Amino acid sequence: MIQATRRPRPAGLYVHVPFCARRCAYCTFVTSTDLDQIGRTVDALVTEITRIAGSSRRELATVYLGGGTPSLLPRPELERLAAAIRNGFAVLPGAEVTLEANPDDVGETTVAAWAALGVTRVSLGVQSFADPVLEMLNRRHTAAEARSAAGRVQASGLQLSIDLMLALPGLHRAALDATLEETVTLVPDHVSVYLLETDKPHRLGELAGLRPDLFPSADESARQYLAAGRALVSAGYRHYEISNFARPGCRARHNTRYWLGQPVLAAGVAAHGQAGRRRWANHDQLPAYLEAVETGRAPRAWTRRLGADEAVREALMVRLRLARGAPAELVERCSGLAPAFAERLEEFFSLGLARRVGNRVRLTPRGWLLSNELLATLW
Ligand SMILES: C[S@@+](CC[C@H](N)C(=O)[O-])C[C@H]1O[C@@H](n2cnc3c(N)ncnc32)[C@H](O)[C@@H]1O
Ligand code: SF4
Repeated sequence: MIQATRRPRPAGLYVHVPFCARRCAYCTFVTSTDLDQIGRTVDALVTEITRIAGSSRRELATVYLGGGTPSLLPRPELERLAAAIRNGFAVLPGAEVTLEANPDDVGETTVAAWAALGVTRVSLGVQSFADPVLEMLNRRHTAAEARSAAGRVQASGLQLSIDLMLALPGLHRAALDATLEETVTLVPDHVSVYLLETDKPHRLGELAGLRPDLFPSADESARQYLAAGRALVSAGYRHYEISNFARPGCRARHNTRYWLGQPVLAAGVAAHGQAGRRRWANHDQLPAYLEAVETGRAPRAWTRRLGADEAVREALMVRLRLARGAPAELVERCSGLAPAFAERLEEFFSLGLARRVGNRVRLTPRGWLLSNELLATLW
């Protein structure tokens, strides 16, 4: 008898490229400036991707080359990565393939080479269109370079996403307005807007401890976030997730997989994966990662299966990041698990920070700003 084998659902694949030409003042991502390690690391990534792929040629709906700065990779190294992915997996026609890029790596021929390797979308770290702000962040590029990089991506027919940062020292109202105006004028397909996290171990975090007067207050940061939202929404973007805005049809499909709990495979130092209730992460130090892969071991730091209640709480947490919100049924289950959450959510409703729409519960943009307070009561 022939047994029907169930084909696993298409997955996403995240690949972490842990190199940067220099370290920005605000960054806590796992990256190294020792570019001599690129070849050895790509060797390890190729080995790991081939091992994860096995022999099943699993279908991929999305691929995300993140970092670090994948745009730093010399072309032959990127070709080796692309070949390992193509050989191990069936990348579906129409798959979203994103590459994170720093503006000063975006030359005309580089973008064409990325497109030829199957990249469909470039996520460009612009952060700000104010040169003094970029300098303070220790960015490698100017506003003018970011502008021309964006133009090159668009001219090549790839989708363009732009990262902006708010709540930065020196990002006064005029600099923010100019940054938002420039962003809208460029008409990117997608914009991510992040508030600087000052509680993390980076140089600006240290400075925030010593000289809080240099940084915008919490109220001013909130005003910046709401102003960014208004500017982008009135230019036709949909604020579809706490930090993300998209033109119609241009939502980030890879990131959406995390928010909807869909399977994401992961390769590279510090990469995190998910499938059903299983979660795992690779070593977060490059030497430990390399050593594991080179000695034939999985570079896993940990792997675990969420408990049933934990999975429900996590599902609510990630779905409330989305504008469409969470099903009321999920909210009720969590309210049963955590009465403090139910109480705090009632406060959110009465303050207009959350709304019931049909059989879903949504946070408003003001609600998102305070969402940490609400979600802390879940656990
Ligand atoms: C991996 S980086 C992007 C790619 C590329 N390395 C670059 O910087 O252009 C992802 C994004 O996270 C944001 N980010 C990094 N550190 C942050 C922090 N401490 N607080 C808020 N956003 C941060 C930045 O907007 C950055 O563009
Ligand atoms: S923001 Fe990007 S370029 Fe800057 S250190 Fe972090 S990963 Fe590297």
